[in-house]
Amino acid sequence: MKQFSIVIAGGGSTYTPGIVMMLLDNLDRFPIRTLKLYDNDAQRQETLGKALGIVLSEKAPDIEYLYTTDPEEAFTDVDFCFAHIRSGQYKMRELDEKIPLKHGVVGQETCGPGGIAYGLRSIGDMIELIDIMEKYSPDCWMLNYSNPAAIISEACRHLRPNSKVLNICDMPVGTLRRMSQIIGKTPQDLEVRYFGLNHFGWWTSVKDKEGNEYLPEIRDYVSEHGYLTQIEVDTQHMDQSWQETHKKAKDLLAIDPRFLPNTYLKYYFYPDYEVGQANPEYTRANEVINGREKEVFSTARTILEKGTAEGSEFAIGSHASFIVDLARAIAFNTHERMIMIVENNGAIANFDNDAMVEVPCIVGTDGPEPLNQGIIPGFERALMYQQVTVEKLVVQAYMEGSYQKLWQALTLSKTVPSAKVAKDVLDDLIEANKDYWPVLK
Ligand code: NAD
Ligand code: G6P
Ligand code: MN
Repeated sequence: MKQFSIVIAGGGSTYTPGIVMMLLDNLDRFPIRTLKLYDNDAQRQETLGKALGIVLSEKAPDIEYLYTTDPEEAFTDVDFCFAHIRSGQYKMRELDEKIPLKHGVVGQETCGPGGIAYGLRSIGDMIELIDIMEKYSPDCWMLNYSNPAAIISEACRHLRPNSKVLNICDMPVGTLRRMSQIIGKTPQDLEVRYFGLNHFGWWTSVKDKEGNEYLPEIRDYVSEHGYLTQIEVDTQHMDQSWQETHKKAKDLLAIDPRFLPNTYLKYYFYPDYEVGQANPEYTRANEVINGREKEVFSTARTILEKGTAEGSEFAIGSHASFIVDLARAIAFNTHERMIMIVENNGAIANFDNDAMVEVPCIVGTDGPEPLNQGIIPGFERALMYQQVTVEKLVVQAYMEGSYQKLWQALTLSKTVPSAKVAKDVLDDLIEANKDYWPVLK
């Protein structure tokens, strides 16, 4: 079997160890000859880089391994780049969340003004990363988790239309795992139909391989409990705030009980509730810094102190399995069915061809082939059109350095109550992001 060479961009990410552990678990299905970590923050990456070096030397000493901040070393002779960078790191995520909240607006990593701010920071970094990859390994595929995926994928469509970049999200996978628990199946038993944008979509069908439909049964459960399940379903999406999110799906379902909602719709349907619940002094960024980040880095430090990874394992979850399955689908032409972010081109029949949408695809060596999701109802279509226009305006604002377009983007976002509030939030975001954003005129 062919052996692959992989670089993880954002080597210092809290998700890096989980993905490495998942790769090690899958060596018989997806053999690896080289694994490299790449980050632009040497210090942050070093702790994980060294600890994972110990893990690899114990579990898979034949894999050639290194971590580096040198693009040439990182990207020479690689088949896949798994990317999960965070432009501006957690200190900027914290501001993305806290600045809008100061104005009574949703403060979130990927939705509303926070997502827009993060998008304007990320576009340039992602394009640079793609160019580096293509310079040193022109045939390499980038499987990109970096957020905000909706805005990044629109930027890729515009600025690098021929690049081998696939933007993905683990939320549909994570929620499907919950659905499978609800009906006593495994996610592998199920095939779904789904339409929407990233962090903005709906399941229209959840069937087993024999064709039995489970949507009504799942709907009955969600109408009472949301996606909250009794059993520990994953290592991810388990913190208290995530439990609230899974529960809130109940109120999302109530708006259109025909379909099962993506949890992120709560920021658009119940922004007032979300703002009311939020603590403007302690947001999700703080929860992550004091939770996942501490956990991952303290596991790494324990491994370093003991000089062995025995007894201190990094956790793995559905986030890691999805990206590894995707790499396998491309590497071995498996034609697995996966939800991906792709250019619509008719997949949603009554939606713009040039919109980046999230739909099930068949994935093989040439990448994803979207499956037709038919005609969608007016309610969802109108919401999607509003949101996709926000995303397109952000990318245009980036390319043109246009204050006007960015103000329009914020004004159009369903999370923002007025053009006045949009302007106030925008002016604060500009100040906070002056080291990262293009100059806006
Ligand atoms: P993190 O801050 O722990 O890790 C990000 C790493 O990227 C950091 O080590 C940082 O130094 C590095 N980095 C930043 N800019 C870089 C650049 N230009 N080049 C190379 N490295 C760079 O963040 P995290 O919480 O682990 O999340 C990582 C990313 O994955 C975020 O963008 C997050 O939103 C995303 N994510 C996406 C999904 C999804 O569904 N698409 C799921 C989980 C996480
Ligand atoms: C989900 C989303 C990701 C997002 C993550 C945030 O998995 O699909 O796009 O990055 O949640 O999780 P966090 O734990 O960092 O708040
Ligand atoms: Mn996501």
